[in-house]
Amino acid sequence: MLGPVILAASRSDRMRRLISAAPVTKQVVDRFIPGETVADIVPIVKDLTAKGLELTMDVVGEDITTPEQATAARDAYLQLIERIKPLELGEKVEMSVKLSMFGQSLPSPTTALFEGPSGPAPTFPGGHELALANVRPVVAAAAAIGTTVTLDAEDHTTLDSMFAIHEELRKDFPQTGCVIQAYLFRTEADARRLAAAGSRVRLVKGAYKEPAEVAYQQKHEIDKAYVRVLRILMEGEGYPMIGSHDPRLIAIAQELAHKAGRKLDEYEFQMLYGIRGDEHLRLAAEGHRMRVYTAYGTDWYGYFMRRLAEKPANLRFFLRSMVSR
Ligand code: FDA
Repeated sequence: MLGPVILAASRSDRMRRLISAAPVTKQVVDRFIPGETVADIVPIVKDLTAKGLELTMDVVGEDITTPEQATAARDAYLQLIERIKPLELGEKVEMSVKLSMFGQSLPSPTTALFEGPSGPAPTFPGGHELALANVRPVVAAAAAIGTTVTLDAEDHTTLDSMFAIHEELRKDFPQTGCVIQAYLFRTEADARRLAAAGSRVRLVKGAYKEPAEVAYQQKHEIDKAYVRVLRILMEGEGYPMIGSHDPRLIAIAQELAHKAGRKLDEYEFQMLYGIRGDEHLRLAAEGHRMRVYTAYGTDWYGYFMRRLAEKPANLRFFLRSMVSR
C-alpha cells in the first residue's frame, strides 16, 4: 500500500525540497546513486567493467522546467561520453536517457513554426521536437564511440512521443533502444511492433503510478503480463534486454531464451546499481551479458523515490536513518 503513496510524493515539489534538504538523506541515496559528478562515476565504470559487468549510464533528472535545463542535460551526457571515450569500452557502456529531461515535458517552443496555412499542425504537445533535437547529438556521440542509447519509459502520457522519437532516431542510428513496461495494457502490442530484426528492447515491470484504465495494478497480473511480453520478445527477431531483479522472471527468461534457440549473446539481463549485486556477478559468471543501470548526478529525487516505492523495507531503512541521527 505504501508504494502508491511514495510514487505520489515523487511528483511533489514540497516533498522534493524537504527530502533533498534532509542532511542524512545523501548517505541513503548513495546506495542507488553512487556519485554526483562524472569524476565520481568514472572509477565505478572501471570497477564494474573489470568485474565482467556492462553498464548503462543515467544522468539523473526529469520533469525539467526550462529549455536551458534540457540543453544542460544534453551537455551532461556529452561530457560523460567524452570522459569514457578513452576507456575504449564500446558497447560495454551505453547510455539511458529520460526524454522529459531533454525537454519533452516543456511547452513546445517550435509550435509557431508549424502554425499557419502553409505548415502542418504539430503532432505532439509539449517539447517533443525539443527533446528530439537535444537527444540526437547524444545518440550520435554514443555511436561515434561504438555504443548506443536506450530511451527510458516514463509515465504513459509520454510514450507515444517516446516511441516516435525512437523511430526517428533509428533511421540514422538503428541500434537505439527503448523500454517497454509490462504493467501497461498497450505493451503486448508495442512488443509485437518492436520485436523486429535489429531492435533493442528493454522490458521492465514499470515504476510509475498509473491509473487502472491503462495499467494492471496487482503484482501477480503484472508478473503474468511480463512473461507474455517476454515471450513475444524472445520469439521475435530483436535483442531483448531483461530489466528485472525478480528471481522467478530471470529463471523464466533463461528458459524462454533456451526454447527460442537464442545464444548467450542474443539477449541480456539488466539490473539497477545497488540492488542484488551478488546476482549481477552470478549471472555474469555464468556467461550472461549483465548490464548494470548506473545512475549519477545531483537531481536524484525522482529516481530515489521510485526505488523506495519498489520495496517498503527501503523506506523503513530511510526513515530509521533519519530518526537515529
Ligand atoms: P520486483 O519489484 O518484484 O522485485 C524483485 C526483487 O528485487 C525484490 O523482491 C527485491 O529483492 C529486489 N528489488 C526490486 N526493487 C528493489 C529496490 N528498489 N530496492 C531493493 N530491492 C529491490 N521502470 C520504468 O518505468 N521505466 C524504465 O525505463 C525503467 N528502467 C529500468 C531499467 C532497469 C535496468 C531496471 C532493472 C529497472 C528499470 N525500471 C524502469 C524499474 C522497473 O520498472 C521496476 O520498478 C523495478 O525493476 C522493480 O521491479 P523488479 O522487476 O525488479 O521486480
